[in-house]
Amino acid sequence: MSMGFIEPIDYLERWRQLVEARDDQGRRLDSQYGRSDEWAGARADRFRQLAAHTHDDDPLLAHLRPRLRPNDVVLDVGAGPGRHTIPLAQQVARVVAVEPSAAMRAHLTEGLTRAGVANVEVVAAGWPAASVKPADVVICSHVVYGVADIAPFVRKLDAVTRRHCAMVLRYGQREAQILDLFAKVWGEKRCLAPTCLDLLGALAQVGILANLTVVPFTIGQRFPDLDAAVAQVHADLLNPTSPTAERIIREDLAARLVPIDGALAFPRSPAYAGLLWWDKGD
Ligand SMILES: C[S@@+](CC[C@H](N)C(=O)[O-])C[C@H]1O[C@@H](n2cnc3c(N)ncnc32)[C@H](O)[C@@H]1O
Repeated sequence: MSMGFIEPIDYLERWRQLVEARDDQGRRLDSQYGRSDEWAGARADRFRQLAAHTHDDDPLLAHLRPRLRPNDVVLDVGAGPGRHTIPLAQQVARVVAVEPSAAMRAHLTEGLTRAGVANVEVVAAGWPAASVKPADVVICSHVVYGVADIAPFVRKLDAVTRRHCAMVLRYGQREAQILDLFAKVWGEKRCLAPTCLDLLGALAQVGILANLTVVPFTIGQRFPDLDAAVAQVHADLLNPTSPTAERIIREDLAARLVPIDGALAFPRSPAYAGLLWWDKGD
């Protein structure tokens, strides 16, 4: 019996197709698609609040701790509200935080002031366009889900890394808890985002043989009440306008959400991320 021939996977093309299919679906279904800054409004603040609980046991910070030296310059690409930038700035000489979203930069600047941190340079640009000098340690956490052209992005991360580079990406999907609901509301499946496994392949294809460490995914969604949960899930479902959508979402959430620490959340199921890292030079 012939085993046949198995085509090799073109990981860079696979990545592009995942990102573009998801983007096309958003453009087709979501009436709010294409806002100039996707983090504008309440989204950046919600992310900051969710991320604020994770400092103490953050797996990326724990991974970096034994690898950092006091004179290091760290580059944080897609720094967001500074979940990693702010604690890292307290351990090294300087952090350069690249962040294209004005809404996120506002939270980052506020966080830096609140923490009394003065050794962070904020670069208002996207990657790979941003112009920065090489850094000892480069990090890029939960940024590349929507980057169709992943090769120049990771090549430039590698090019500006002097000693250590670490990227973090989910194993599963951001919408894992509402994929069935998505299909029920829209009559089609949600196109899936690339995961850390796709990134491992894409990195290998450009010649970067990264290590993969499995870590817990620590940002859990919490909602103050059912109305807030319905509003958030409605947005995560790409803002369906059908008259029955709101009722279907409310009924589903009312049946599934459980109270946790005075808020509502989906019942806990373990979630994981991949920490992809590689060393260079000394
Ligand atoms: C989910 S947040 C993660 C923030 C932070 N790295 C963390 O892990 O807490 C993703 C961030 O990446 C930024 N981002 C998206 N595309 C980017 C790009 N091409 N270059 C740099 N940053 C980008 C977004 O503006 C957002 O602030």
